[in-house]
Amino acid sequence: MRPAIARPAKRRANLSVRWQIVFAFFVILASAFYFAASALTSLVGQYLLDNRAQADAAAATEAAAAIADTFARAGAESLYAIMMSENSARGSRLIALDQDARVQADTSAQINGVQGARLNTPEVLDVLNGAASSFGLHPSPDSATRERRTWLDFFRSLEYPHGWLGYTAAPILLYSVGENGPPARVGVLLCISSVQEVVSQLIAVQDQMLTYFVAAALAGLLLSILFSQIITKPLQGLAAGIERMARGDLASRVPVSGGREMAHLARAFNEMSQKLENLDDARNQFVSNASHELKTPLSTMKILIESMIYEPDMGSGVRQEFLTDINKEIDRLTRIIGDLLTLVRVDSGEVKLRREEFRLADVTRETARRLAPLLKERGQELTLSLADDIAVFADRSKISQVIYNLLENAVKYTPPHGKIRIQLTRDGNRALLEVADSGMGIPESEQPHIFERFYRVDKARSRSTGGTGLGLSIVRQVVQLHDGEITVTSQEGKGATFHVRMPMV
Ligand SMILES: Nc1ncnc2c1ncn2[C@@H]1O[C@H](COP(=O)(O)OP(=O)(O)OP(=O)(O)O)[C@@H](O)[C@H]1O
Ligand SMILES: [Mg+2]
Repeated sequence: MRPAIARPAKRRANLSVRWQIVFAFFVILASAFYFAASALTSLVGQYLLDNRAQADAAAATEAAAAIADTFARAGAESLYAIMMSENSARGSRLIALDQDARVQADTSAQINGVQGARLNTPEVLDVLNGAASSFGLHPSPDSATRERRTWLDFFRSLEYPHGWLGYTAAPILLYSVGENGPPARVGVLLCISSVQEVVSQLIAVQDQMLTYFVAAALAGLLLSILFSQIITKPLQGLAAGIERMARGDLASRVPVSGGREMAHLARAFNEMSQKLENLDDARNQFVSNASHELKTPLSTMKILIESMIYEPDMGSGVRQEFLTDINKEIDRLTRIIGDLLTLVRVDSGEVKLRREEFRLADVTRETARRLAPLLKERGQELTLSLADDIAVFADRSKISQVIYNLLENAVKYTPPHGKIRIQLTRDGNRALLEVADSGMGIPESEQPHIFERFYRVDKARSRSTGGTGLGLSIVRQVVQLHDGEITVTSQEGKGATFHVRMPMV
């Protein structure tokens, strides 16, 4: 039965390998860049904020020192006044608090406006607990809405505050004159200033990163399209080659290119198609040879029979002769068909060897006896030199056929009165059967081919001897089925020797 050629599956919405590569490449590149960029942005942000915190702490400490005396000794108005003058340079808001975190003065409130209210932000509490200074970020109460700055905001993962405030607290220290020892902590100065500048810087960095990110993503996309093209090109070539082969073009080959695996695949494909092509050629050759061999005896018979039909007055002697020839041709046909069947059966693995243990010398003698009449007719001398202790575990009738074919060839291709010799010896742990003759021999250039089907060295001559060129191919097949091997040594004009080696028991 003909194997059905698989139909291409219905096109599914699967991505081609090429686009899968592009996608993977792009995702890897983009995510790597994204993580690197966000790490960098957050580092820069941290750095900027740290710097700002340090500067603010220094300023707050300085302002606290400036107001310390007034805070400790003068009234609220003087404190407010000195704080306003301290603040004018900085543009921030100063709030002085006592040790209970109660507001004593606030530069953005009227004098006494919020006096007495408690303001215990974490920074104030830090300082009350003994810290030298403390910095924290707080949302500005009057910036509840957050408008979008640029289109890049769309990509932002971090919510950057607009109008966030930096709170810096520093202790108000009072150094008493004449006394050594640590200064007294009399209050806390809270300095509130906008950190918008820092945030803007950070946003600028982030914007830059995002721009680079978009550029890198585009470049990555282009590169991945390019690479995927390079990677998948051999694959497309291979697919095209396979399609051509599926359509019946067995000569289809693909260029060996691409990476190691691709090149390996291409080479394997080429080898496979080469083998298929050889097999196809061999099959065509076999069919055409077989038809030719079968046609020859048929046309001969047709001529003979037609002569008999159209010449009714033919003498009975000639008629007898014609009938004998027809009979011979039928024998020949039967033999060719028998040989072909044997070969085909072995090929398809149908043949089962009926193995038994026997002595090779016995089978050789029997076979020689069957050919004795032919030998006698040609006046040829056959010498047997057989070691009797060599037994094999093999199919007796098949081995007999091997010996018969070899001996028949020796007889056919040796002129009358020639010499033929069969020798059976041991060769290591194998049996060695040799059939040697003193005939015409086989030219060295022909030796590799004589085991091929229908191969004859001298087409015209062996046809006249009745050969079809199948004998030796059957011999080789049978020997190989028995795990043996067959070789030939010969010199043109000086006879030929066939060597069969087989496992012994
Ligand atoms: N002993 C030999 N001496 C010289 N040539 C040989 C010998 N044996 C085989 N050959 C050559 O090898 C060819 C193939 O042999 P093979 O036995 O396969 O075919 P055949 O004898 O022509 O036909 P068949 O055996 O099918 O009747 C022969 O045609 C012959 O030319
Ligand atoms: Mg033969």
